[in-house]
Amino acid sequence: MKLVLTALFAVAALPSFAPQRVGASEGETGGGAAAQDKDAPVSYTKDVLPILKASCFECHNPKKLKGKLDMSTYALLMKGGKQKSPIVPGDPDKSILIQSVIGPEPEMPEKGDKLKPEQIAILSRWIKQGAKDDTPK
Ligand code: HEC
Repeated sequence: MKLVLTALFAVAALPSFAPQRVGASEGETGGGAAAQDKDAPVSYTKDVLPILKASCFECHNPKKLKGKLDMSTYALLMKGGKQKSPIVPGDPDKSILIQSVIGPEPEMPEKGDKLKPEQIAILSRWIKQGAKDDTPK
């Protein structure tokens, strides 16, 4: 299972990192900018989506809809499920999505490995920065 998730993550990350490779010849820094610099803008497409894909899509997709929540697009994630929207832009503490993944025994993901602190930090910062959509049109 872990391998499958890792593979999914790799596939999800590839297209979004590809453009950065163009300038990488001058010195590969590795990892997204958001993972390195606490003030760097967090991208929904490059930083947030791969985390949700790897850990949450399994149950929150158009076919499974656990908690009536589909996370497969920005619009559906923001719309939310049974409860109000899981994201309160600007306020990670009030966002159910963050509440569901923090603590010693997080509610989410309901099964499987819990999110790493760095991943939670990325999600929180994205919300704090306004939870902006940068899905390519
Ligand atoms: C193994 C399945 C599974 C995975 C993986 C999973 N969830 Fe869930 N999720 C559920 C179920 C089941 C519910 C409904 C719980 C309930 O209603 O009591 C739920 C509900 C939720 C809700 C509340 C929705 C609402 O409006 O009531 C949020 C927010 C949530 N999940 C976030 C996440 C996040 C973030 C991840 C990834 C880190 C994740 N989930 C991964 C099964 C899963």
